[in-house]
Amino acid sequence: MIDLMLEPEEVAPPLLRWYAGHGRDLPWRGLRDVYAVWVSEIILQQTRVETGQRYFGPFLQRFPTVQSLAAAEEGEVLALWSGLGFYRRARSLHRAARVVVQEHGGQVPTDPEALGSLPGIGRYTVGAVLSSALNAKLPILDGNVIRVLSRLFLVEGAPDRAAVQRRLWALAEAVLPDDRPGDFNQALMDLGASLCSPTSPSCDRCPLADGCGALAEGRVDDLPEPTKKAKVRFEERVALLVARDDGRFLLQQRPPSGLLASLWELPSVEAEGEVAVLAAGELSAELGGGAPRACGTVEHRFSHRHWTVRVFRSRGDGRGAGRWVTAGDLADLGVPTASRKAIDAGLAEPGT
Ligand code: ADE
Repeated sequence: MIDLMLEPEEVAPPLLRWYAGHGRDLPWRGLRDVYAVWVSEIILQQTRVETGQRYFGPFLQRFPTVQSLAAAEEGEVLALWSGLGFYRRARSLHRAARVVVQEHGGQVPTDPEALGSLPGIGRYTVGAVLSSALNAKLPILDGNVIRVLSRLFLVEGAPDRAAVQRRLWALAEAVLPDDRPGDFNQALMDLGASLCSPTSPSCDRCPLADGCGALAEGRVDDLPEPTKKAKVRFEERVALLVARDDGRFLLQQRPPSGLLASLWELPSVEAEGEVAVLAAGELSAELGGGAPRACGTVEHRFSHRHWTVRVFRSRGDGRGAGRWVTAGDLADLGVPTASRKAIDAGLAEPGT
């Protein structure tokens, strides 16, 4: 059976033929602007393509060049990123834009090593950006590509192990054609995002089915081997919407490092169970607010953390330190989805 497995150089022709008819039409494809493709790849790290598409246009419209991004305040970059999550990506992209302006004369480096030394850019991003924008013959390896290659070539072992990573990168390099490596990489991504899905893949329609090692051995559902999941931490929190009589409410900025660094949220503390009501009362008093009223509970999952936030609302005299905002101001601030949910719950219960 294994004799039927494809040689690495045999992958490209059928995959590129399939891509011509089935590849996705995405706004960053075909762009020759290294900066724009770089932005797309950072947005797409840990973000679904459907979501990424909604952020890509507005981001480039506001920051059409690396110079415009470098000149921006971090707060404005985070405001545009609000709701995308993994805000460290945005901060690294912004810092990297400043390095490009200061150290590379405002030209995004196209040398793989120089590009890869910028903040937030690893080997995957170097390959994705330079192959897509400039047709450079550089491999890529992300979750989708790992799945395709592991199945095609029967790669054993958890993909986060160093030896398995080395094998996968070597395969990602070996399958790359001299002609159209950029399209080929995009095609690999699309195959992994569509037919070669984690569960119930559509092997009957796969252009590589004839030479797929896992399909031949009946092991498609076993490969790639699952990696160990990190433990999720559950936290219970209290958030307080203190509103003044003019309707403005208080936001505070999170510390400059750690989870959701520098982003804006309702004043909040960690508090479990019955302590929540007491904690809300103390928090309100500290901020010049009256007795808080419960407005419900919101949940938010981060990659390794799960928040249950009990939201309260009180009437404040305006003494609390932070920024007194209207709902209309939120678009100009970095407000993560977790905060947004709590704010919405508090605003839905007016009349305190
Ligand atoms: N995910 C990451 N990069 C992508 C791209 N260029 N096209 C589709 N999905 C992606």
